[in-house]
Amino acid sequence: MADKLIIFDTTLRDGEQSPGASMTKDEKLRIARQLERMRVDVIEAGFAASSNGDFEAVKAIADVVKESTVCSLARANDRDIARAAEALKGARSARIHTFIATSPLHMEKKLRMTPDQVFEQAKLAVRFAKNLTGDVEFSPEDGYRSEVDFLCRVLEAVIAEGATTINIPDTVGYAIPELYGNFIKTLRERIPNADKAVWSVHCHNDLGMAVANSLAGVKIGGARQIECTINGLGERAGNCALEEVVMAMRTRRDYFGLELGIDTSQIVPASRLVSQTTGFVVQPNKAVVGANAFAHASGIHQDGVLKARDTYEIMRAEDVGWAANKIVLGKLSGRNAFKQRLQELGIELDSESEINAAFAKFKELADRKSEIFDEDIIALVSDESVTSEHEHYRLLALSQRSEMGERPHAKVAFAVGEQEFHAESDGNGPVDASLKAIETKVQSGAEMLLYSVNAITSGSTESQGEVTVRLQHGGRVVNGVGADPDIVVASAKAYLAALNKLHSKSERVAAQG
Ligand code: KIV
Ligand code: ZN
Repeated sequence: MADKLIIFDTTLRDGEQSPGASMTKDEKLRIARQLERMRVDVIEAGFAASSNGDFEAVKAIADVVKESTVCSLARANDRDIARAAEALKGARSARIHTFIATSPLHMEKKLRMTPDQVFEQAKLAVRFAKNLTGDVEFSPEDGYRSEVDFLCRVLEAVIAEGATTINIPDTVGYAIPELYGNFIKTLRERIPNADKAVWSVHCHNDLGMAVANSLAGVKIGGARQIECTINGLGERAGNCALEEVVMAMRTRRDYFGLELGIDTSQIVPASRLVSQTTGFVVQPNKAVVGANAFAHASGIHQDGVLKARDTYEIMRAEDVGWAANKIVLGKLSGRNAFKQRLQELGIELDSESEINAAFAKFKELADRKSEIFDEDIIALVSDESVTSEHEHYRLLALSQRSEMGERPHAKVAFAVGEQEFHAESDGNGPVDASLKAIETKVQSGAEMLLYSVNAITSGSTESQGEVTVRLQHGGRVVNGVGADPDIVVASAKAYLAALNKLHSKSERVAAQG
């Protein structure tokens, strides 16, 4: 029987650290359920001590996820670790992941600690965590740029204290595959008790090598856990992409020879859910989950694929969950059919009133759009007005007039808390006019960093437009996403969704702060 490779997903922790990717508790819960459905071995649900919001999200995930281990990050101190343990109390299988930086640069400039102090703190942290849970992971942050002798000393000590997983982060994405693989091999060879822990890789993508480095960590270094995120979401250039590393392992099983527990048919639904939730669009030529990943445009390729698929295809689209866009529901579909489709998509709304709100939105949409696809349903339940989450800003009505050669004008009605506002403005275009109208009353002072529009389902102008707006204010960056067949309305919804996120001022501590 081949060795098992553990897939550790950190979309909800490291992925969420990407500016603008912060998610609400309900959004995180929905993604965690999808990760569980995909049979991810470990879900890093957040960093419980970083904010009350993150604590609640980790707790909610720990309470509902049963098939995957649920993990919380914690700095190497008693308060963070106790907070993580508290949030994880309800989990069937829980892991505490504690970390402290070990590179000379981080210890001296960031932590202002001596190597001996870091050594002691790492040991004490693992000892403390081990008293609270049997499953303890330790990460030497910036591990790849740490001195090997010092790292061996720290890692041997934390394994002796009971760490069951040792993760080697390439925190700044500096590694090269062969060198990273050999680094892990050296550590495992030099540390006498190395065989008492599972070795793990955690690679960032600054030089575009996160997946290659992770694979080398497994093949050369002998690691048996890969830390990764859906769509490679993560700070800066992101983390190792789950879909790529999993499909590389599976497609080239002849070379890697490892067992994976992942249900790969859940990969594309997970990718769409993360992209629709965060507003981080997947590039069309992205491996495995990009819209073009299985499209054969050239005549020679098409001819080859028609004669024998494996002439140009190394994976089957259906194996990663690409089903042809299905028209699932329409105007005449009833509440039961709608409810059943929600279940099939794995969407669990919390109450009958949420189902009713979602169904009312669905009916509204079906009146305007004859074919409703799965993506439309995901967008619809992502709408905060459907879930019980508090919405401070709500769009009530919008009308706009634009004519070639004329300056567009928009009128917007929206609620702020209990109060209703009516505003109007001109603008360079109808979207600009609508958002300016909202700003005349809200005066958020936020700076817009990004505005993007995408068709939710490809192939037709009947598709809903999905708009992402990224705003920055007071040092915080948030994304708002809105969907509607009318892209001006979608834009106003996205703008108000971003304002809602700015309004919920949950401050958090950065994991690498
Ligand atoms: O990249 C990193 O070093 C991390 C650690 C906190 C594990 O994400
Ligand atoms: Zn990281």
